[in-house]
Amino acid sequence: MKCKKCGQKASFNMRQHKLALCREHYLEWVPEQTERFIKKYGMFTREDRILVAVSGGKDSLSLWDILIRLGYQADGMYIGLGIDGGIQYSSESQRLTQEFAEARGLKLHVVDVEREHGQSIPMLAMKTHRGFDKPCSVCGLVKRHEMNRIARDLGYNVLATGHNLDDEAAVLFGNTLAWEGTYLLRQGPVLPAADGLARKVKPLCRFYEREMTAYALLSGIEYIYEECPFAEGSTSIYYKELLNQLETTRPGAKLTFYLRFLEARTNGLFREKPEVVQNMHPCSKCGQSTTAPDLCSFCRMIEKVK
Ligand code: AMP
Ligand code: FES
Ligand code: ZN
Ligand code: ZN
Repeated sequence: MKCKKCGQKASFNMRQHKLALCREHYLEWVPEQTERFIKKYGMFTREDRILVAVSGGKDSLSLWDILIRLGYQADGMYIGLGIDGGIQYSSESQRLTQEFAEARGLKLHVVDVEREHGQSIPMLAMKTHRGFDKPCSVCGLVKRHEMNRIARDLGYNVLATGHNLDDEAAVLFGNTLAWEGTYLLRQGPVLPAADGLARKVKPLCRFYEREMTAYALLSGIEYIYEECPFAEGSTSIYYKELLNQLETTRPGAKLTFYLRFLEARTNGLFREKPEVVQNMHPCSKCGQSTTAPDLCSFCRMIEKVK
């Protein structure tokens, strides 16, 4: 297999794009494509202050690397979740994120959930009985809340996450199985700013997971290989496996599924329930918008465990 650009031996082959590239040209191709998606979906410009949520995994570290290469103003934020039994998942991912930032002279904000709110994720999950063995829903709630809070408090107007195509297709698959109209409407590469919350963007949403792994490996980024220990057996991993089976027999199926959905959404196939829009108001404690009558679900949880 030869590189399509220079004819040298290819390092990476993408069946779904009918494209093979050598290392050098692959490391050019990924940022070029990212820049194209940023423009196509109107994500941000070089004037915006971007906060990249970095987990220490291949996607978010690569995203930060790419945005810096492209000349965007991007600082990082790491959220310490306190998931440290066995493989020391949180401390290892924090170490790798900090080393990444130091080696490149980048600014990284580190937020420790336990120091900030008195409880780690496993503690919160246990005390609220929201998943004794699976704290993932509590974790998702806390991460969303903290990302919004830091972006607002530190004056960033764009919040970028490392979600890739496999992540987005799996979420889409789940929402489609249940025809979740409101969720479907809000899923996309860009969620506009609202109620004092930063605009949310996913610049890697059109890259396959294996493309991001190749980018991280070929550019020598050190990232945490392990998944969160609680992710094992999750529904989203099951959906990813199903979609991978489909992709094996029909290369490109995953990308088509996602892109056709975006088209359908643009064409007005999904509509928000009017009562959801009307019922949004700021939480009386933290100010983030919520449909709950007084406190948002994050603040209610924190109150409950106190
Ligand atoms: P996940 O929900 O683990 O699939 O992660 C999706 C995205 O959320 C990642 O690509 C990151 O941008 C962000 N993220 C996940 N965990 C953290 C963390 N501990 N700190 C900061 N950002 C995170
Ligand atoms: Fe949050 Fe696994 S439970 S990353
Ligand atoms: Zn080449
Ligand atoms: Zn709140």
